[in-house]
Amino acid sequence: MRIDILTIFPEMFRGPFDCGIVRRARERGLVEIVVHNLRDFATDKHRTVDDRPFGGGEGMVLKPEPIFRAVEHLLGEQFDRQRVAVILLTPQGRRFTQAMAEDLATRERLVLICGRYEGVDERVAEYLATHELSIGDYVLTGGEVPAMVIVEAVVRLLPGALHRAESARRESFAEGGILDYPQYTRPAEFRGLRVPEVLLSGHHAQIARWRRRMALAKTLRNRPDLLEKAALSEEERQLLEELRGM
Ligand code: ADE
Repeated sequence: MRIDILTIFPEMFRGPFDCGIVRRARERGLVEIVVHNLRDFATDKHRTVDDRPFGGGEGMVLKPEPIFRAVEHLLGEQFDRQRVAVILLTPQGRRFTQAMAEDLATRERLVLICGRYEGVDERVAEYLATHELSIGDYVLTGGEVPAMVIVEAVVRLLPGALHRAESARRESFAEGGILDYPQYTRPAEFRGLRVPEVLLSGHHAQIARWRRRMALAKTLRNRPDLLEKAALSEEERQLLEELRGM
């Protein structure tokens, strides 16, 4: 996979792709990540990328021409919308989910356009981008951190990016999923706080049941919305009824 990122702050991307799983995936040749300065695609001598909004109002809006030029330079004027995703990051986008990360991980190329200022000329969302995405219901100063979030969520799903032990734990948020169960490690007692006894028992069936129960309890407390579309087994449904009654 190749990922291109268009931004007016390329220096923000120094670091995040040089650690951990993303770095390993790059070193293994699973993904190539190229960061571009949007100003390089401006045509005037001041390298202008923004202008005042038509209709009035505060702030500046990113102009369409440098963004269209950049994407056309990278992909040509026509591209295959099955194999390539052009993603505009704004707070107005559809909410990014694990299911979308899984879809994006099947593409050959991603182009991420980082919004900035008070907005991006709407013709980018309408006629250029294949996706307009938000990472959550809060407003950041731009799409740079959201682009990093998307890269990390997608790259870890690329075949070969994770070790076997890591990949077993990737399903939690997939559509129909619930939250992960709580994990503990040594010491068994820390400042008087003991690890749940069942985990030390070596009784695998009891441990598995305890984990399902705790995963449901945590989901019920922190993300009850996930339970509405979760695909639960009969045992899990019963556990959930018990927990709701408590
Ligand atoms: N730009 C500013 N806030 C954002 C968000 N929550 N998601 C994506 N892009 C953004």
